Amino acid sequence: MSVVAVIGAQWGDEGKGKIVDLLSEKADAVIRFSGGDNAGHTVINPNGEFKLHIVPSGIFYPRAICVIGNGVVINPGVLLGELDALKSRGVDVGNLHISDRAHLIMPWHILLDGLEEEKRGQGAIGTTKKGIGPAFADKTARRGIRTCDLLNPKTLKERLAGILASKNELLTKVYNVPALDLESIFKEYSGYAARLAPHIKDTTSLVNDLISKGSNIVLEGAQGTMLDPDFGSYPFVTSSSPLAAGACIGSGINPRRIDRVVGIFKAYTTRVGGGPMPTELKDEVGEYIRQHAHEYGATTGRARRCGWFDAVVGRYSTELNGFTSGILTRLDVLDEMDAVKICVAYQMGGKTVDRFPADVEALENCTPVYEELPGWKAPTTDIRNAKKLPANARKYVKRIEDLIKCPFHIISIGPHREQSIVIKNII
Ligand code: GDP
Ligand code: IMO
Ligand code: MG
Repeated sequence: MSVVAVIGAQWGDEGKGKIVDLLSEKADAVIRFSGGDNAGHTVINPNGEFKLHIVPSGIFYPRAICVIGNGVVINPGVLLGELDALKSRGVDVGNLHISDRAHLIMPWHILLDGLEEEKRGQGAIGTTKKGIGPAFADKTARRGIRTCDLLNPKTLKERLAGILASKNELLTKVYNVPALDLESIFKEYSGYAARLAPHIKDTTSLVNDLISKGSNIVLEGAQGTMLDPDFGSYPFVTSSSPLAAGACIGSGINPRRIDRVVGIFKAYTTRVGGGPMPTELKDEVGEYIRQHAHEYGATTGRARRCGWFDAVVGRYSTELNGFTSGILTRLDVLDEMDAVKICVAYQMGGKTVDRFPADVEALENCTPVYEELPGWKAPTTDIRNAKKLPANARKYVKRIEDLIKCPFHIISIGPHREQSIVIKNII
């Protein structure tokens, strides 16, 4: 009986989809609590291979209810497309519940995401252009439209008309692009409302009642800690909090009800989009990892930047989230390496720094301090017992655990559900 938050510990794409699918076997509810369809979570299980963007990765278990929490911004067209695709592959989506407080991504958000990125030029963030930043900005500025508004056509029309008038001024007068049409957006969103209405409800009460009954709950994080707007490499971040604290805000579960916080760490580092990445490898080793591990974005298909494991980031992530368990993924990707490196500190202006700094320019110019360990040069994908891992692989895992101050309770050595070494049960 536990409430477990699963959190990306680096810059996203750590393998949260695989792990949520694995941990959800015993879950009564799986809840997405932040982000939107900027996320791309890969799940490979007996149903096939799926890239989920907005539907929780617990959808494959009939016993679990799946919840899109209040902290998620929802593009209703994308959500319906994902539900149709799942249904066409035989997955029952009747158990999906959508918070009546979640904000909607509107056509102007997507348009503005692209226009703002264009305007940033060289300093572009490299967003997914899904309208995430503009939708969260409007939520905070109190000019958002929520899923509960879809259930009330009068409110929907009134809010649409008020908000669209000022958005159209921005679009036509600042960006010189054509205005959007109120009637066609109202019609489009009324169509979404008709299909989504049965799923929209007060999910906070639903989930808190389940917790009171002693149910198992998995909170599915999106993005990663270093993309957090407060603690990440600002401004090269996303617009909602991927942290454990964000799990409370984005679901309506109070902090005292969270029993375990699980950090998902990739055995090396990847990042998509712009911004500093101290351990990035712009050489043949980085290219080897990208090709060998097929490090291309699940949402945009962009090449992921690859580099060595950054323990400064890892330690910071443990501190911010309070991980009770770590999960190390993609260890198998390093199986053929002669040697592996771990960044233990940064050299910055003549000083050695072991904390993640706020200043992005300092980060761009820092030099990582590495420890080098011998590779293990042996396949790990069929191993199911940690003691059977090659000695050098065990040394690598142990050194990371010591540096990030978090024990690994699962080691993932392949994308399939069963390619997992369980050291300690988490749920
Ligand atoms: P998420 O966004 O955190 O869910 O991660 P993504 O799905 O975007 O990217 C993770 C990728 O790694 C996916 O292609 C997974 O199928 C794959 N994957 C997850 N765990 C492992 C692992 O242990 N080994 C290998 N080789 N691939 C993995
Ligand atoms: P999952 O859940 C990796 C990155 C984008 C960009 C920055 C801001 O699959 O781990 P946004 O569209 O959110 O405004 O883009 O954040 N980003 C991700 N990178 N994995 C993700 O999600 C990401 N979601 C956003 O590439 O750099
Ligand atoms: Mg992803």
